[in-house]
Amino acid sequence: MHTFDRGCLPLLLAALAVVRVDAADFDPLQYVDQLIGTRNGGNVFAGASLPYGLAKAVADTNSGSNQGGFTLDGTPILGFSALHDSGTGGEPSLGNFPLFPYAACPGDDINLCVYPKRTRVASGAFDPKTVVARPGFFAVTLNTGVKAEMTTSQRTALFRFTFPTATNGAHPLLLQDLSDLHNSRQDNGSVSVDPETGRIKGQALFVSSFSQGQYTSYFCTDFSGSKILDNGIFVDSRASADVKKLTVSRSINGYPLPGGAFVRFESPAKPVIARVGLSFISSDQACSNAEEEIPKFDFDAVQSAATDAWREKLSPITVSTGGGVDPNQIKNFYSGIYRTMVNPQNYTGENPNWKTGEPYFDSFYCLWDSFRSQIPFLTVLDPLSVEQMIRSLIDTYKHEGWLPDCHMSLSKGYTQGGSNADIVLVDGYLKGLAGGIDWDVGYEAVVKDAEVEPFDWCCHGRGGIDSWKALGYIPVQDFDYKGFGTLTRSLSRTLEYSYNDFAISQMARAMNKTTDAEKYLDLSDNWRNLYKANQTSSLFSGIDTGFVGFFQPKHINGTWGFQNPLKCSNIDNTGSVCSLQNTGAETFESSIWEYGFYVPHDQGSLVTLYGGPSNFVKRLDYLHDQSITYIGNEPSFLTVFQYHYAGRPGLSAKRSHFYIPKFFDTTPQGLPGNDDSGAMGSFVAFSMMGLFPNPGQNVYLITPPFFESVNITSPVTGKTATIRAVNFDPTYAAIYIQSATLNGKPYTKNWIDHSFFTEGKELVLTLGKNESSWGTAVKDLPPSVGEYVGFNGTSVDKKTPASNLRYSVDYGRTGLGLRQR
Ligand SMILES: *[C@@H]1O[C@H](CO)[C@@H](O)[C@H](O)[C@H]1NC(C)=O
Ligand SMILES: *[C@@H]1O[C@H](CO)[C@@H](O)[C@H](O)[C@H]1NC(C)=O
Ligand SMILES: *[C@@H]1O[C@H](CO)[C@@H](O)[C@H](O)[C@H]1NC(C)=O
Ligand SMILES: *[C@@H]1O[C@H](CO)[C@@H](O)[C@H](O)[C@H]1NC(C)=O
Ligand SMILES: *[C@@H]1O[C@H](CO)[C@@H](O)[C@H](O)[C@H]1NC(C)=O
Ligand SMILES: *[C@@H]1O[C@H](CO)[C@@H](O)[C@H](O)[C@H]1NC(C)=O
Ligand SMILES: *[C@@H]1O[C@H](CO)[C@@H](O)[C@H](O)[C@H]1NC(C)=O
Ligand SMILES: *[C@@H]1O[C@H](CO)[C@@H](O)[C@H](O)[C@H]1NC(C)=O
Repeated sequence: MHTFDRGCLPLLLAALAVVRVDAADFDPLQYVDQLIGTRNGGNVFAGASLPYGLAKAVADTNSGSNQGGFTLDGTPILGFSALHDSGTGGEPSLGNFPLFPYAACPGDDINLCVYPKRTRVASGAFDPKTVVARPGFFAVTLNTGVKAEMTTSQRTALFRFTFPTATNGAHPLLLQDLSDLHNSRQDNGSVSVDPETGRIKGQALFVSSFSQGQYTSYFCTDFSGSKILDNGIFVDSRASADVKKLTVSRSINGYPLPGGAFVRFESPAKPVIARVGLSFISSDQACSNAEEEIPKFDFDAVQSAATDAWREKLSPITVSTGGGVDPNQIKNFYSGIYRTMVNPQNYTGENPNWKTGEPYFDSFYCLWDSFRSQIPFLTVLDPLSVEQMIRSLIDTYKHEGWLPDCHMSLSKGYTQGGSNADIVLVDGYLKGLAGGIDWDVGYEAVVKDAEVEPFDWCCHGRGGIDSWKALGYIPVQDFDYKGFGTLTRSLSRTLEYSYNDFAISQMARAMNKTTDAEKYLDLSDNWRNLYKANQTSSLFSGIDTGFVGFFQPKHINGTWGFQNPLKCSNIDNTGSVCSLQNTGAETFESSIWEYGFYVPHDQGSLVTLYGGPSNFVKRLDYLHDQSITYIGNEPSFLTVFQYHYAGRPGLSAKRSHFYIPKFFDTTPQGLPGNDDSGAMGSFVAFSMMGLFPNPGQNVYLITPPFFESVNITSPVTGKTATIRAVNFDPTYAAIYIQSATLNGKPYTKNWIDHSFFTEGKELVLTLGKNESSWGTAVKDLPPSVGEYVGFNGTSVDKKTPASNLRYSVDYGRTGLGLRQR
């Protein structure tokens, strides 16, 4: 399905003939496949966009899984639209104002062309072999013979429609309608067409997809190429060239009522270029965006600028293509990286709600998904953009009163667990992001999450703050008369709030706010209050798993509630309700088994509670081997690598190879679930790179990369960090680190911090086929609030004061390579 321009092929072959590709000539874009995740619920956006671009052009299919617009599941095309989100679940987002082409109307009669989405889809069939998707470009040919190609600048999409020559003498027609993917248009969408130039302007009010909000979007479409014959509007299934303006009701039947404009062209001999300017401010701004960004309708120039923008973003990471590595693994890697930069979207200058000089990003969809590895990945690869995102989050706090947990189409979305923007901010702070971020206001924002309960905590902040402080946990059916929200998820919220408070304590400590640091560190211990030491767990068949000690929900009076530890797990087929419903479980979208590992800051204590390192490992193995965890949802990510905390880093490597490529491959159905704005992509990218973050901490867990070597150049310092595998084995039998050096000196810790990237260090890993003692000693384990006990030898190396392993002592910012640690 992925096709190269014929013209490029000889060049490509010539390049391959020259021994091995030099790093300077290495083009990462050849390894990006945007069609991964276009089937089987990946819901990725497969079309043309700039990195973080607002304009995202693609063909929208008539699929139940068209959240990202295009799918390769055999469904036909409804239209070509230019606003999208990527990888999301729930209702489809955006997809506003699609264009649809006809080579001709039957009998040259505009009333015989089909306008409504529902019926015109009959002309939307296409052969998947005609699909071409490359960074900044998308093309498909309809079975009607009309070829559609598209590319974008930041806020403008450029479409090129080429008509079959057999239709010579006919008059091609392009329509543009006032709909969106979700069919959410409200009253009074309007459109007008200029009789002379054919310029179509319009606007409509739509419903945002995972929030209570609405948004108005605007467009301005101009044409170039073939001469215009006539134009007008359509409503329902009828069109007229005599009417140039339409305001259409939402309607109750046939909702939303089909309506829009059309333009006909004199001849199919020349392609028609349609330039669609977009805005969330006004139609006039949509026009001026288009005029500024694409003044000349030069398709090839816009495409080549988009390609260059992607190449620049992806170039800081190069991997070795040698050592016999399967090129599909390289494709998997770069495609994952590519997807981390599709969302969030840069809406700077397009925010109708407030105007400041600050950047404005939207489509944080949702931070609950992206705090874990997507934004941390961008902090490595594109820190200057993350600085802008954090400034935008802080500016959103200033204007909306709270940091969002989820934000799309200009509205705050639903919160799923804790206030995880806290972790995004703290992660950036600890990793030394600067770039004009007002960290004092950032600190104020995270403290507000911890201290002030919103009246309605559906969409920001936390609920149950009184109970949190008085009881030390969120109880089942909390008594809360101060703020209102869905009183479910008491267990997963307790675990997430604990970690949120830990994150705040780290920021406080680094800012020398020692009283706050202690206070939030104490609160971060609240997770313990839901640990029930004698809780057992049986499979649904009745067989005892043999494990004892699980988190359990607790009532307000301090007595235990009960939730089957496997409820809402991947193997729960009992019809449990696990999302945001009022009848939902005490855990969100996953089980107590999996949330049982979600104490990212105190793995030492958790290992002890679970009976020591070998029992911890058995439990983690059971979680994965029995498919209790679901790698297609984000809470699973860290569990793949938590073996590190039990002194078994080799098992983390083994586990990441268990999931990649079996659950993440390069086919259209190659994702295990929604990509969630690139969260899944970042899991692939970090796992294959061989460093996985524990977000909110200055920690990356080391596993061997899937390549012989990886170079990452920091866009901030210009220094290049290198990970090199000695004894690299492309069959991945040798995935166990035997020894390591950092900048030439022996290195036994199984983790590194962010200065690795900013200072451009070199990590050399010598691999073998068996686990070794590398990275297994207590002194080599990642930081933990509580001590590691029960490991071989003494609980803690006597020469190392226990406190050195603890966060409570000097665990501050790395700084952008400026501060030695
Ligand atoms: C839509 O337009 C009609 C006719 O002008 C007007 O009566 C109505 O109030 C408008 N509705 C909204 C929601 O603006
Ligand atoms: C990484 O950088 C080093 C030093 O510049 C270079 O020799 C090597 O070829 C690079 N490797 C890759 C995979 O780009
Ligand atoms: C976002 O857009 C603004 C305005 O066009 C631009 O100045 C800024 O550099 C963009 N940021 C990123 C990360 O693309
Ligand atoms: C915190 O205090 C230390 C030691 O006095 C000092 O070096 C550091 O600059 C201070 N940090 C901040 C953010 O004030
Ligand atoms: C489990 O422990 C709780 C105290 O946490 C106790 O009340 C209960 O009786 C114990 N159950 C069993 C079966 O031992
Ligand atoms: C505690 O509260 C729960 C839930 O309301 C109730 O079932 C239980 O009987 C109460 N226990 C005591 C000791 O009050
Ligand atoms: C690696 O482990 C296997 C058993 O798992 C054993 O047979 C083999 O001898 C070991 N190899 C080395 C080099 O220790
Ligand atoms: C402790 O040592 C024994 C024997 O060498 C080994 O089998 C076990 O895996 C070690 N446990 C840990 C936690 O390192």
